Amino acid sequence: MVTAGQTIDTADPSNIVIFGATGDLTKRKLIPALVRMFDCGLVHSDSRIIGVIRNQTHEEWLQIIREGLAKYSPQISMDDDKWNVFSSRMKSVVGDLDNDQVYADIGSAMELLGERKNAMFYCAIPPGWYGRVAHGLSAAGLISEQDGYRRIVIEKPFGMNLESAHALNQELLAVCHEKQIYRIDHYLGKESVQNLLVYRFANSIMEPLWNRNYIDHIQISVAETIGIEYRANYYEKSGALRDMIQSHLMQLMTLVAMEPPVEFTADAVRDEKMKVLRAVRRFKPESIEKLTVAAQYASGNSNGEAVPAYVSEENVSPESATETFAAVRFQIDNWRWQGVPFIVWTGKRMKKKVSEVMIRFRRPPFNLFDSHASLPKENALVFRLQPEGGVVLRLNAKKPGLTTDNEPLVMRAPYADDEKEVADAYEILMHDVLTGDETLFSRSDEVEESWSIVEPILQEWKDRFSIDRYRAGTWEVPNMDKITEGCVGGWHMPT
Ligand code: BG6
Repeated sequence: MVTAGQTIDTADPSNIVIFGATGDLTKRKLIPALVRMFDCGLVHSDSRIIGVIRNQTHEEWLQIIREGLAKYSPQISMDDDKWNVFSSRMKSVVGDLDNDQVYADIGSAMELLGERKNAMFYCAIPPGWYGRVAHGLSAAGLISEQDGYRRIVIEKPFGMNLESAHALNQELLAVCHEKQIYRIDHYLGKESVQNLLVYRFANSIMEPLWNRNYIDHIQISVAETIGIEYRANYYEKSGALRDMIQSHLMQLMTLVAMEPPVEFTADAVRDEKMKVLRAVRRFKPESIEKLTVAAQYASGNSNGEAVPAYVSEENVSPESATETFAAVRFQIDNWRWQGVPFIVWTGKRMKKKVSEVMIRFRRPPFNLFDSHASLPKENALVFRLQPEGGVVLRLNAKKPGLTTDNEPLVMRAPYADDEKEVADAYEILMHDVLTGDETLFSRSDEVEESWSIVEPILQEWKDRFSIDRYRAGTWEVPNMDKITEGCVGGWHMPT
């Protein structure tokens, strides 16, 4: 992981093999990240990008990539000279992932770079293919690390429930070592998320407050204004709980709740995260109604435009009861967090795009100012993850004048003066893969544990026929008061 002020590890040259080289993820995220990484030395200049393509010639693929850059990353300047240098590092292998020949061809295309034949295999393909690709690579002898490292990168979803996640892990672990598997959670690649760790563990004023004695509850949220875009086929099967909570949001929860690791190494950090997951109280079927909220967006207005209801989106069943908003009240049964609810929520077509971790402190034990007109507001420390990452501390201050009335004081500390300086999650994470740092990647046991926690909720929700609705572009989600019951300040809708 690259942290502020730290010298960046130089990655050795590598064969960067991309499965799904014409796909959306490649065009929108991977190639733009690689262009910037070559620019600033995060990837060794002798590295190669090997795209696995199916129905195109090499020239057509290059054309697709260049057009993708212009369309999705217009901020990246790419004149002919720069493109010629970049594309000279690109090779392609044509073939079908279900045919062993393609893996043999990848092996032939991989180059000895310096003294080693390092390779990062990036699976930018549907998860149903991960096992097949890993087995194909293994059968072609490309997983063995005799002449260089071999690392496989996969994207969520890692399974759709505990059983399928376990099956996927078994399939991968049958041919590779856990240390060769990099399960990307792009939230952990966000600089503002890593900043949360630095705030926690590089400041001694946080630790004494970071527990049940001072904290009333914690809210972790990702509100989005977009709908499901073009992804109905995936989203209909997934829903917000699987799509966001089981992965990104539970990962964030573990970072907020974990004990200080003994060292900043991948296993030390992941061991602590794992302990948090093990301490999460399991949901009993009869408690799920009280501890969770599911809702779906109805038509409404988003950013000044009329938008359709979820059920009217392309490829969504008109009867669909899939949740586009989900909230869960977790309880972590350990000494630090006993009695502190973690309210974790996410929604599409919300009023505002904003991701936050809000630490809500307890009220003062005795209120000196009770008799005055304005009562002190609850203190809160908010880590704004996006947009405009930074920290906000909400205190109370005296109103100027001959009074002890108080008013809220909001102290803001932006994370970076210029958002453009902040590295993209994919740059950080691919650099970590190239340097072999697994700290920000999920281990198989973490993935299975988090599935096992949400499994009873999935079971309870799977047969529902109807679902509560909220108007697109609003915070009008029913029942949020129910799961924030007893929490100081109630549901925090980001402002
Ligand atoms: C993805 C989800 O993992 O994260 C999407 O599948 C969601 O549904 C996205 O929109 C949010 O990521 P970000 O970085 O835009 O907050």
